Amino acid sequence: MTRKILLTGPALAHDAMSYASERGIKIVPTVPYLPAAELTSVIRDEQPDAIIVRQGKLTREMIEASSNLRAIAKHGVGYDTIDIQAAAEKKVPVTIALGANAQSVAEHAFALMFSVARQTAWLDARTRKGHWDKATANGMELFGKTLGLVGLGAIGAILMDLVAPLRMKVNVFDPYLKTLPDRPYVERETDFDRLIDSSDIISLHCPLTDQNRNLIGAAQLNRMRPNAILINTARGELVDTPALIRALQTQRIAGAGLDTFNPEPPPAESELWGLPNLVATPHVGANTSEARERVGLLAVEQIVQIWEGTALDPRCIVNRQLLDN
Ligand SMILES: NC(=O)c1ccc[n+]([C@@H]2O[C@H](COP(=O)([O-])OP(=O)(O)OC[C@H]3O[C@@H](n4cnc5c(N)ncnc54)[C@H](O)[C@@H]3O)[C@@H](O)[C@H]2O)c1
Repeated sequence: MTRKILLTGPALAHDAMSYASERGIKIVPTVPYLPAAELTSVIRDEQPDAIIVRQGKLTREMIEASSNLRAIAKHGVGYDTIDIQAAAEKKVPVTIALGANAQSVAEHAFALMFSVARQTAWLDARTRKGHWDKATANGMELFGKTLGLVGLGAIGAILMDLVAPLRMKVNVFDPYLKTLPDRPYVERETDFDRLIDSSDIISLHCPLTDQNRNLIGAAQLNRMRPNAILINTARGELVDTPALIRALQTQRIAGAGLDTFNPEPPPAESELWGLPNLVATPHVGANTSEARERVGLLAVEQIVQIWEGTALDPRCIVNRQLLDN
C-alpha cells in the first residue's frame, strides 16, 4: 500500500524526494498558503498518512480531515502554526526538524547585525539611486560589544560561537537552559531587565509561546541602551511592532534587523518601510540550499520512523506531554 505525505507548500529538496520515492512514498505538494477551507478540502480528498507543514497554518479542522493521519512534521522548528493539542487528541505526534536549519538562521542573524550596524541595506538602496553618502554615513563596530541572547538552543548556541572572533561578551537569558556552555566570554543572566540594560545587541532565539508575546514591548525598548540594536529572527509576535516603530522613529534605539514580523507580511502601508534604521528580510533565515536539504530529509525520516514505531529523539516531538495525557 502506497503511503501518502501531504505537503503544505512546494516539493521538498532533492534528498528528501529521493528518500521518499525509494520507499514508495507519494509526496503530494500543495499551493503555498492555500485558504484554510481549500486546504482542508484537499486533505479530506487525499486522506494523507502524514502531513509536512511547510507554509501556513495547520488547524484542528485540517488535522481532523484525514482519518489516516499518523504523523505531522514541521518543515523547520517553529511550530506555533500547528494545533498540537488537536493532533495529540488524535494521538498524532508533531515533530520539528531540531537543529537542521540552525546554522543558516544563526548566520542570518549575524548578517542582520552587521547590516544594521553599518546600514548596508539603506546605503545600498541610496547608492543605487545615485546618492553618495560618504560624508554623512556613520556606523558602529561590533567588536567588543555585549550581545544579549534570548534563548540558547540550536540557533543561539551557533551564534554564540560565531561572534567569538569579534571578542564580544555574550549574556544569555534562557530560563530552561540546564548547562551554560563553557566559554570565557559567555555568562548567564537570570534577570531579563538586566539583560536588556546591559546589551548593545539583543538577539531573539526563543520559541513563541502564550507567555512571551510582546516580550520586547515599550518598557523593554525604553530600557535599552541608545546604541542598542534589536535582532529578531525568531517570531514577530515576540516584539510589540508599534512600540518598536516608535523606538526606531525617535531613535530611542539605534536600529533593528527583522526577519520575522507580526503580521507576515506586514502591510504595504506599515510605518516600518519608512525607517532608515531598519533592515528587513521576508522570513528567510532558513532559506539556504543546505538547510532545505537537511530539513526536508529529516522531516520525511521522522515520519517514516513514526510509521515504523521507531523511537525518536523526544525533544523532536513537541506535543509529547499532551500525547501522554
Ligand atoms: N527565521 C527563520 O526562518 C527561523 C527558522 C528557524 C527557527 N526560527 C525561530 O527560532 C526559534 C529558535 O529556534 P532553535 O532551533 O534555536 O530552537 P531550540 O528549541 O533549539 O531553542 C530554543 C531555546 O529557547 C529557550 N527558551 C524557551 N522559552 C524561552 C523564553 N521565554 N526566554 C528565553 N529562552 C527561552 C529554550 O530553553 C531553548 O534553549 C524557533 O522557535 C523559531 O521560532 C526562525
